[in-house]
Amino acid sequence: MNAFTLKNGQLYAESVALSDIAARFGTPCYVYSRTALEAALDEYLQELMGVDALVCFAVKANGNLAILDVFSRLGAGFDIVSGGELKRVLAADGDPKKVVFSGVGKSREEMKLALEHNIFCFNVESAPELERLNEVAGVLGKKAPISLRVNPNVDPKTHPYISTGLKKNKFGVAYDDALSLYQHAVTLPNLEITGIDCHIGSQLLDPSPFAEALDKILILVDQLASNGIQLRHIDLGGGLGIRYKDEQEPTVKSYLQPLLTKLKGRGLKIILEPGRRLVGNAGVLLTKIEYLKPGEAKNFAIVDAAMNDLARPALYDAWHEIVPVQPRHDAPRTWEIVGPICETGDFIGHDRSLALKAGDLLAVLSAGAYGMTMSSNYNSRPRAAEVMVDGSIVHLIRHRETEEALYALESRLP
Ligand code: LLP
Repeated sequence: MNAFTLKNGQLYAESVALSDIAARFGTPCYVYSRTALEAALDEYLQELMGVDALVCFAVKANGNLAILDVFSRLGAGFDIVSGGELKRVLAADGDPKKVVFSGVGKSREEMKLALEHNIFCFNVESAPELERLNEVAGVLGKKAPISLRVNPNVDPKTHPYISTGLKKNKFGVAYDDALSLYQHAVTLPNLEITGIDCHIGSQLLDPSPFAEALDKILILVDQLASNGIQLRHIDLGGGLGIRYKDEQEPTVKSYLQPLLTKLKGRGLKIILEPGRRLVGNAGVLLTKIEYLKPGEAKNFAIVDAAMNDLARPALYDAWHEIVPVQPRHDAPRTWEIVGPICETGDFIGHDRSLALKAGDLLAVLSAGAYGMTMSSNYNSRPRAAEVMVDGSIVHLIRHRETEEALYALESRLP
């Protein structure tokens, strides 16, 4: 569903004009649509109706408390990768019993926090992590529920920085080692084996690698069973892609149906960890043109959002559609849309054909996932405000950072 539409010559988020949001909250500003968030989760819930399944939103895609709140109210759980993300989930009143904890570098403190809150499962990513978790759980007098994140070595056909399930990636345990590691885990007294996990990459537009990975994992599930290790759940990770430009976006149905068919009758609870798909197209980054700087080689539109607000273009050469909030009917020119940061890599979009004037507002689309969560304070830029639109109501869900907050934790020498 698209909650960002043109009405009466200007761009709206649900029933609110983005120009009104800019006037009220300033720019740069992330704007999310509650309806779009709910619709994205609902697409999963519809397909999973009657299936023993849990959708765990990957908090790293967007951890704002209000976003977690929207999903938690609809029964979602959460995939976390740090103690900080767990604390966010708790602050949003999310249910820790619906939390899975992924990540290759869990510290003792993070394990302890998660154990104290009785999370659903630890997705263990290495042999030494098994030992450490066993030890930490023992000290607390608890049994840690675990699954091993197995690396199925399938090619997700996505950007190399966000593919994770290949042999050469740092994630998970090698497929060929999984059986013996499970057999070792059985001998560790403070662990309880509950499942198996895999996540092969992000922004997958072709669902077939998911099925390929599942086939491999199911072979392992059967081998485990014949070795007396019965699993209760299978976690298939996240990774379903979205449309940024002109990609053909796979439906959740085309992704899930083949997987559900393979899993039918196996009695395994299904865990999914979607991030981008639930939030990516439910958010835009609203920005204002500070200056137009036409030049001999390139024309630059310098906007008030930068790579510190949205790192994806600079980091992955990612393409985000950029549209005027109040489109002009003049002849377009080709613009470099760039931020104020002192780096040539600080761009939001290259070669965009747009009719622009200084002071115009632009919306950077598909910015709801890995936008705010990857933002920084580079160049001492306070982070953007975030708002959520719900029909005709606008909630401020994160105040614009103050300059003072940027150095509040610092001190001069005595
Ligand atoms: N589960 C695990 C274990 C993950 O590592 C990730 C993402 C997800 C779930 C959620 O994946 P998603 O459904 O969002 O594809 N910053 C990059 C994306 C990094 C993804 C990292 N892991 C970007 O902006 O494209």
